[in-house]
This record gives sequence, C-alpha cells and structure tokens, in this order.
Amino acid sequence: MRLENTTPIAPMLNGTPRIELGASDATSVKVEMNGFRMLDLPYLWLRDNCLCDDCRVSETQEKRFMLSDVPADLSPLSVALDDSELVITWPDQHCTRFVLEDIVALSAPRHDPAMAWAPDFAPRYFDWSLFLHDDIAAAEAISTFLIDGAIVINSAPQDSETLELLSPRLGPIRELLFDRIHNVLVDTHVYNVAHTPFALPPHNDFASYSFPPTVQALHMLENDVEGGKSIIVDSWGVAEDLRRDRPDYFETLCEFAVPFREFDETNETFAVEPIIKCDTKGRIISVRFSNQLMQTMDPMKEGVKTFYQAYHEFCRRITDPTRHCTFRLEGGQILLVAAHRILHAREAFNPVGKRHLQDAYFELDNIANKLILLQRNAKVSHV
Ligand SMILES: [Fe+2]
Ligand SMILES: [Zn+2]
Repeated sequence: MRLENTTPIAPMLNGTPRIELGASDATSVKVEMNGFRMLDLPYLWLRDNCLCDDCRVSETQEKRFMLSDVPADLSPLSVALDDSELVITWPDQHCTRFVLEDIVALSAPRHDPAMAWAPDFAPRYFDWSLFLHDDIAAAEAISTFLIDGAIVINSAPQDSETLELLSPRLGPIRELLFDRIHNVLVDTHVYNVAHTPFALPPHNDFASYSFPPTVQALHMLENDVEGGKSIIVDSWGVAEDLRRDRPDYFETLCEFAVPFREFDETNETFAVEPIIKCDTKGRIISVRFSNQLMQTMDPMKEGVKTFYQAYHEFCRRITDPTRHCTFRLEGGQILLVAAHRILHAREAFNPVGKRHLQDAYFELDNIANKLILLQRNAKVSHV
C-alpha cells in the first residue's frame, strides 16, 4: 500500500493543529494528531462503509455493497489526506472518501445515557398540552425521561381515551393480552393484585412475557381515596449496589432463569427469564421483578438454593423504603416509567371513594428515536 502525502490538514477539531497519516500496517489506516493515534480504521470497515452512490442506495442511504464481495485480506492501493477528507483507492480503482469529523462523531452517543438517581430523587413534572403541542417542551421531557427513567405529565384530560392521545409523542401503544388500555379499579375484572386495595410491592408489569413492554404509562383518572400513594424504585441502582457488595449474588441473578405467569380464564402468559440482564459490556439493560407473578419452581432444579439466597438479598434491597421515591398521583397525572429499569409500587388504600388508574404500554426505542427527530427538527428550524 502506498501512503500519499502526509501534509497536515487544516485544523478541524478543537485544538488540533496537525493531523497526518500514521505508519501503515497490514490491517488498518492510522490517523494521528500531534503524533498521537486519533483513529485506527480497519481496511474492511473503510471498504464496508463507503458512502459513494455505487455502494449505497442514494435515496435511502442504505448500504448496497456486500462485504463478502471483497477478500478478507483486502488492503488499499493508496491512502491520502485531502484537506479534511481521507481518500482511499482500492485495488479495483474504487475510490472511498471520508470526512474525518464524521468518523470522530460516530463515537458520540445518540442521546444522554440513563443516570443513577440522587438519594432525594423526585420525578420532574411536565405539562400535558405543552408535551403534545410544543416540540421543545416535548424534547426536554423525553430527554429527562431517558436520563431519569421516570417523569410525570400534569393536567391530562381525565377521560378513558387519554393514553391513546400520547402516540404522536410516544409511538404506537404496545398491545398485550387482557386489554389494550388496562383499567386498574377495585370493582373490575380481577386478574391481578392491583385490582384489590392491598399494597403492591415494587414490580414491573408483564414479567410473564419474554420481552415485557419497555415503557409504561400510568394515568390516574380519579383519586379520591385515603392512602394508595405511588412508589417508584430505580432497580438498576439497587442492582449496581448489589453487584458492588455481592458480585456473586449479582451473577446468580443474571444466570438463574425464573418462571413468571399472568393469566385468567381466557388469557395465558408465561416466561422463564433471569431477574437481571446485561449487555455485551456487562451494563444492566433490564431488571424483571414481580413477586406477584413469580411462579413456584421445581425445588430440585440445580441452583435453587443459591438463587434463593441472592433473591432474598435483592428483595430486601428493592423493598427498602430508603430506595423508594413516594408521591401521590392525583387525578389528571400520568406517570411514565422506563419499565425495564423503574419498578412501580403502591401503598394500600381505603377503598371508600374512587380510585381509577389506567395503564398502557409503549416502547422505549420509539421514544428515544422521537427525540432524535425533535432535535433534528429544532436544528432545521434554527437555520
Ligand atoms: Fe403494575
Ligand atoms: Zn463506494
């Protein structure tokens, strides 16, 4: 491979007076800044991500080029810097160009990551009509939701179609068995402890699905009862503390699969999944916790004894009131929770008077991507 000029390009990143090609090797192109490695770009990555109209569907920006059309040991004929662009010529004379700034920008997250709660955490409140009709207010609410995992929307209409109206902001409702919009009342079809005045321990809904809904909206239509305060818990914070204090327990909860079931005369849902799931880097991506839906498991199953020790400790921490954020959800308020992270609970209440809650489910992907659209539109309107 031939390295063409190593002339420094014009300053393009903060404090970058000199950018040049580094020494070549057999697998990647190095780009250096002041002698330090800035980028290490594998040849196959460079070829696979070519942006030209031959390699992309120009209307959609989708990739057309298929990596297996070149050999695994592909290497460029030449690499050069042309101002702020990296120019690669391949053995078949195909030319690939990259703006270095665009490559650097790939390391930026799409949105702010979830952040642990402070000990005095309380959800932020946003106005219903601004959330629906003002893009800047909606972007701020969604961004807060992605960081905190919980917000409250205030002054929502107190009627039973209200949750349907959130779809322009939250995406389509994720339908599950039982109902599209779930009514939580004492005098209703009882298939869950929520339909009684008893206290509800922290849980996420539909642990009995292999992939439970990732967002839950709890809309209080009326709340005239004594008691019944709402409680939310950041289960990821609890699980991180457990990982620090008892890594063996944490590992057990990641590995041991637990049966969950929710059912009535006409519906049957069942899943066998671990309490904690992590991504490929070991970061927590979901906690599944539902005392009410957890099923009796075969006591002879391997690992039950170890699981119960770990689960006892996790239950103790989840039910610890110092981890709870407690508040009263009034009529016209909607609590929105990132349901794989934030558990919800309810204190017992005196069923004299009316308490009517409705639940609907949404998907976090749709909401996170809505924020990208809102931010893009805000940029365009500033131009
Ligand atoms: Fe629930
Ligand atoms: Zn190309």
